[in-house]
Amino acid sequence: MKKRWWNDKIAYQIYPKSFCDSNGDGIGDIPGILTKLDYLKALGVDILWLSPVYPSPFADQGYDISDYYAIGREFGTMEDFDRLLAETKKRDMYVIMDLVVNHCSEEHEWFQKALADPEGEYADYFWFVKGENGEAPTNWRSYFGGSAWEKVPGTDKYYLHMYAKAQPDLNWENPRLRREIFDMVNWWLDKGLAGFRIDAIINIKKTPAFHSYPVDGPDGLSSCAHMVEEARGVGELLQELKQNTFEKHDAFTVGEVFYMKEEELEEFVGDEGHFSSMFDFSAHLLGESEKGWYAATEVPFRLWRETIFNSQKKAEGIGLLANIIENHDEPRGVSHYLPRHAQNELGKKLLGATWMFLRGIPFFYQGQELGMTNCLRCDISEYDDISTHDQYRKALEAGCTREEALACCYAFSRDNGRTPMHWTDGENAGFTTGKPWLALNPNYTEINAAEQEGRADSVLNWYRRLTALRKAHNDTFTYGRFLPVYESKEDVFAYIRENEETGERILFAGNYGTAGVELSLCGGREVLATNCGREAELNAQLKGGRLTLGSCECAVVLLWA
Ligand code: NOJ
Repeated sequence: MKKRWWNDKIAYQIYPKSFCDSNGDGIGDIPGILTKLDYLKALGVDILWLSPVYPSPFADQGYDISDYYAIGREFGTMEDFDRLLAETKKRDMYVIMDLVVNHCSEEHEWFQKALADPEGEYADYFWFVKGENGEAPTNWRSYFGGSAWEKVPGTDKYYLHMYAKAQPDLNWENPRLRREIFDMVNWWLDKGLAGFRIDAIINIKKTPAFHSYPVDGPDGLSSCAHMVEEARGVGELLQELKQNTFEKHDAFTVGEVFYMKEEELEEFVGDEGHFSSMFDFSAHLLGESEKGWYAATEVPFRLWRETIFNSQKKAEGIGLLANIIENHDEPRGVSHYLPRHAQNELGKKLLGATWMFLRGIPFFYQGQELGMTNCLRCDISEYDDISTHDQYRKALEAGCTREEALACCYAFSRDNGRTPMHWTDGENAGFTTGKPWLALNPNYTEINAAEQEGRADSVLNWYRRLTALRKAHNDTFTYGRFLPVYESKEDVFAYIRENEETGERILFAGNYGTAGVELSLCGGREVLATNCGREAELNAQLKGGRLTLGSCECAVVLLWA
């Protein structure tokens, strides 16, 4: 595997709207982010990924972009953004932005021009397709529910939107559109941006002819994902994108890729792959049902562990995946993955360490470092997210009670991760002096950065210790092999990272069970960290060739080479 500048970096996703508000309008902004750079540096973070900060009508929280060359006024100005680039550079940090080019906003100039002249050149930037007998061209369901087609006013045509109807899909078959996108990407990279997180990118390739698929839901429609699965040739488009942009700038890219065929991993993240890395969503997809959140099933610990191990093994020798516990589309990791008995600080630290030493690039999501949790709401009107409303409706239509449908939202809503960041226990958690755009999780009085800052055994300080440890053994954790161990132990998540060049070997072992476990361990040299303050005791145990871990405890152990 080639050595690249990003391989050993630790990344952190900022959801700007909810991170830190500097001007009291209730919406986080870039000047707010600037005030937190030292906090992020102290956490050990190298790369900051900003979810969209472009102008947007916010039909899908900024993933509907109306101008690719500007900063949305809610987020600040281009000068603020340039300041962010300069200040991060001073701190040896990098900034990447979201690249959302499967679709734009209905308010984008291109789409407005297309609507104004549906036979003109801009119509060909989109998918304007004739209907069939007065109906939509196909029976595709958009990812957010309802038909993926919307009438082009005054014509017999429809435009395609795989997400919300305010997010028209762009036509990547059109070379002029591709050129526009390449120019825009280069414009940001020339400015000093280090790269992009690339949104929904697998969807850019459509099948050559559009046809319907067998109905797969009570709405009489069929998921548009079937078309994505059938489409061939996305790789050619992605290589062209890379060669015309990222490659020239040595930019870091991380793809959001679903529905990839397993054998394509090398094409995506190998040395010559389309991206530097891509997110590993394998664990996140577990338990999901095509029917919706209401039909999701519980995921046993063993399946979760096996799924992560498999991903790790598949990527070895090919490339680096980007590892996440949560993001702005997912529930909070500690609420989702930890069993009830582990929903406490010890458990949160266990989960954090399990993730930190995996092979791949760790991506924090804001608030993860504090152990922020899902947020209970009493009524669907308290949710902002478009997909939460769709899933709530689906649950009711399937016969769930209002309470059951709300329980699904509590478990899975994208808003769980989007509530404002908890800086202090003061008014609005120190996030804003105004009215927050989305109500806070009331538990900010207990879970907040100010309280954790000064407490040596806090989740925040544990994460700082983990990033420092990862960096202290950089090569082993970046390039070392991944070897699962103690797989026969029901509740233990354990693996060794082995550096083939230096011989350094480090074991991570964590106990997700309710009872204590004893592991026999020959070759233990030094306990580097435990989440429970038992370093001295476990070090003494190593001499006797064993390691005991109580419920939710974990240890990182240096082994003899
Ligand atoms: C993935 C993004 O992460 C999500 O938030 C968004 O709704 C869709 N792509 C559409 O852009």
